[in-house]
Amino acid sequence: MTPTRQQAAQDSLAEAISDAHILVTTGAGGVGKTTTAAALGLAAAQQGRRALVLTIDPARRLAQAMGLDGLDDAPTQVALPPEQLASGGELWAMMLDMQTTFDRLIERHATSPEEAAAITSNRIYRQLSSTLSGTQEYMAMERLHELHEEGAFDLLVIDTPPTRSALDFLDAPKRMTSFLEGRLLKLLLKPGVAAGRGIGKVVGAGATAFMRVAGRVTGMELLQDLADFFRDFEGMYDGFKQRAEEVLALLRDPRSRFVVVTSAEPPPLREARFFLERLEQEGLHAAGVVVNRIRPEVPRDPSDAGLTRAVRSLQEAGGVDPDAPEHLEPGSSDELALAGALQLLGDVRNLAARQRRDVAAGLFGVEVPALVEVPLLGGDVHDLDGLERIAGTLLTGRTR
Ligand SMILES: Nc1ncnc2c1ncn2[C@@H]1O[C@H](COP(=O)(O)OP(=O)(O)OP(=O)(O)O)[C@@H](O)[C@H]1O
Ligand SMILES: [Mg+2]
Repeated sequence: MTPTRQQAAQDSLAEAISDAHILVTTGAGGVGKTTTAAALGLAAAQQGRRALVLTIDPARRLAQAMGLDGLDDAPTQVALPPEQLASGGELWAMMLDMQTTFDRLIERHATSPEEAAAITSNRIYRQLSSTLSGTQEYMAMERLHELHEEGAFDLLVIDTPPTRSALDFLDAPKRMTSFLEGRLLKLLLKPGVAAGRGIGKVVGAGATAFMRVAGRVTGMELLQDLADFFRDFEGMYDGFKQRAEEVLALLRDPRSRFVVVTSAEPPPLREARFFLERLEQEGLHAAGVVVNRIRPEVPRDPSDAGLTRAVRSLQEAGGVDPDAPEHLEPGSSDELALAGALQLLGDVRNLAARQRRDVAAGLFGVEVPALVEVPLLGGDVHDLDGLERIAGTLLTGRTR
């Protein structure tokens, strides 16, 4: 990308960092979603905003660097040197506690505290709430909605879980409501089934056999839990559905933007592409694409052409001119080291060029509002210093 295009693209991500109310980082597994979310929060705080980063399973050292020692459902302020922040800037962070969020959701929709307690202590609920596919994604959105309603932050940056596919995130509310809308559930919710006795009658002979076997294996108590669970959920079904719709409406707001993170490899790029297309179809807004851990381009400058010529002339001549200082003795360790270094330089240059070709090909034809390259840093990003370097790149395109 030419410097001016890169600059224009970055301006638009910088704009999102200073304007958006919600930023969602998404992308394939392991591409740097959590790191980018933290860096976006830091960049916003540097711009004078009160930013909260809601992380999901951050690496332990990154969590520690942000002052998150354990699973805490409440925002914690990240200690940053004041000179790093514009006036009013604050960075807060928290980890998603899925179970607590789900329990609160139940409490909100239950008709009484007793009903809520009955559900949250139910074994079927405890099992389902942690294993149902999409629950983590849905709870992340639910927590986002709560934080939005509390209104304490200018910007909420939300990380997404390492799903098989980034698209799972967008499908989570639908899956959640369709689970609740499910046929079996509806049948079980029919009046009279609640006591557990009627289950067999309603769901048919096959299921009766299943229940008999299940009953024998797991005990009637578990069946009773199942029946209670479905009965208690009955009253909450509409509330849940409405909440899922509210969450989607919040994500559709023009001040909610998605930052699609990818590496420069074709499979994550394909996923980024699908995600961008899907955002457009769903009327959601992309803030841009972050191509993370990309190799910086190595410029070709005259001195390295000179070095190449020097080595080549040595090899061709097979001799040394002791008066020419740039000539190295053929086969000497210095000459081998120089030839090796040039070879490596060529490889890195080729890799950097290939990565850019892959990015261009992978995103060809899709509307990308901003494309920012974040270079591969030496070592993992597990401290505020690393985050600061990435935040700087997200804002200006330069690394320190
Ligand atoms: N620009 C970078 N340079 C060097 N290392 C990086 C960079 N970005 C991320 N990393 C490292 O890559 C690893 C994966 O990053 P991260 O945890 O942010 O990915 P993720 O997309 O959130 O993963 P998951 O899908 O598992 O949640 C981490 O060890 C992180 O420190
Ligand atoms: Mg992550």
